[in-house]
Amino acid sequence: MGRLVVVSNRVTLPDESRAGGLAIALRAALAERGGLWFGWSGTCVRQASGAMHEYVDGDIRYAVMDLSRQDFDDYYNGFANRTLWPLLHFRMDLVDYTRKTYAGYLRVNALFADRLASELRPDDLVWVHDYHLIPLAQRLRERGVGNRIGFFLHVPMPSSDLLAALPHHRELFAALSSYDLVGFQTPRDLERFQDYVRLFGGGRVIGDGLMETADGRRFRGGAFPIGIDVPTIADQAVKAMNRLPVRRLQESLGGRALAIGVDRLDYSKGLPERFRAFERHLERHPNQGGRITFLQIAPPSRSDVPEYRKLRRELETLSGHINSGHAVPDWTPVRYVNRDFPHDVLTGFYRIARIALVTPMRDGMNLVAKEYVAAQDPENPGVLVLSRFAGAAQELHGALQVNPYDLDGVADAIARAHAMPLAERYARWRGMMDRIEAYDIHAWRRDFLRTLQATPATVSPAA
Ligand code: G6P
Repeated sequence: MGRLVVVSNRVTLPDESRAGGLAIALRAALAERGGLWFGWSGTCVRQASGAMHEYVDGDIRYAVMDLSRQDFDDYYNGFANRTLWPLLHFRMDLVDYTRKTYAGYLRVNALFADRLASELRPDDLVWVHDYHLIPLAQRLRERGVGNRIGFFLHVPMPSSDLLAALPHHRELFAALSSYDLVGFQTPRDLERFQDYVRLFGGGRVIGDGLMETADGRRFRGGAFPIGIDVPTIADQAVKAMNRLPVRRLQESLGGRALAIGVDRLDYSKGLPERFRAFERHLERHPNQGGRITFLQIAPPSRSDVPEYRKLRRELETLSGHINSGHAVPDWTPVRYVNRDFPHDVLTGFYRIARIALVTPMRDGMNLVAKEYVAAQDPENPGVLVLSRFAGAAQELHGALQVNPYDLDGVADAIARAHAMPLAERYARWRGMMDRIEAYDIHAWRRDFLRTLQATPATVSPAA
């Protein structure tokens, strides 16, 4: 068995103590077969892009590359996060496309391919992650790489009509057919991609996940819903109950219920709508008014991108507006915290929250929803209020599923969650636990890698 080579824009280096679930799973996969994790160093430099840095941790080697400011602006801040991110989250109104940033995106992918091609051994299995690196396999193939290469899209795949509105969409989405396996979060994402292949890509869907491009190249697609490490999160949550920030939060509630939201500060997460829905709850359910405190944790993200800065200002205004309209001397309804917390502290916050508000307008999966479930006390579990537009909604049927555009509906779901009797809370929670235990983060990565490994070599141009 050859090595595993993981490629992603962001790499979690061995000394980063805040590694999330995905990083832990990828490290486990890398450690199993020995391997390389390749990507961006997280650093911008003045001089030309491409300087490499290496770290070794047991059987895992990390090789990361600096980017010049120009490449970073065009590739990451530009095409990846101002064109693809909004497009893939169904936000055509926010798409900012320029040929300059698209050229930068292709340039950085070619640079990644240059650096990576020379590292690869013939029997390495290559696994590329997310929308920053769609063209990478094609660039590697051009450099003579015949290895099996898989791609996993962590974010949603939108409707084909939206994809087709992107200039150069054929070029970009044709690049996906250079992978042997393209993984999506949910069967719906796969279907939407297959629609694109048929309607705009000039290809056909053969069945059993196989697709064929107009020029006869075959590749496979599949749905692999990403999960979490359930026992680790459950254990962290129990231990976190003794951590000071968790105890302090609990004490500060003064017997009120806690509703919690934890999201990167991103417009796809539906934060203004969530704040308004919480306000609507105060108005529609005055009998519950003052009995629920809403804590939103939202660490800033991608702050070079103007849309993110605008959102930050909007939320500051909105939280101030709700609090000034509804606070009483000993209670404010919204606590809005613009910073990150260690992951184990968050699991403690989840455990004491009676309600989780996970209401993105669109989300590939949303692991906060799954982590909230894993962190609950089985004796007294809380209620998950979940947007039906998160990938997780296709698995977590025990959640109160809402349409985040329907503020009244979200407000009423908050009220229902708050009033829900223990027996119903338990039954809903148990069903969700069974699902996230059955297909956890390790099942996810094994399933993907097994499928990639088993993809017939005939679909690869090297065959
Ligand atoms: C999403 C994307 C990831 C990305 C993460 C953080 O989850 O799917 O690819 O790494 O957001 O965003 P950032 O731009 O900070 O890497």
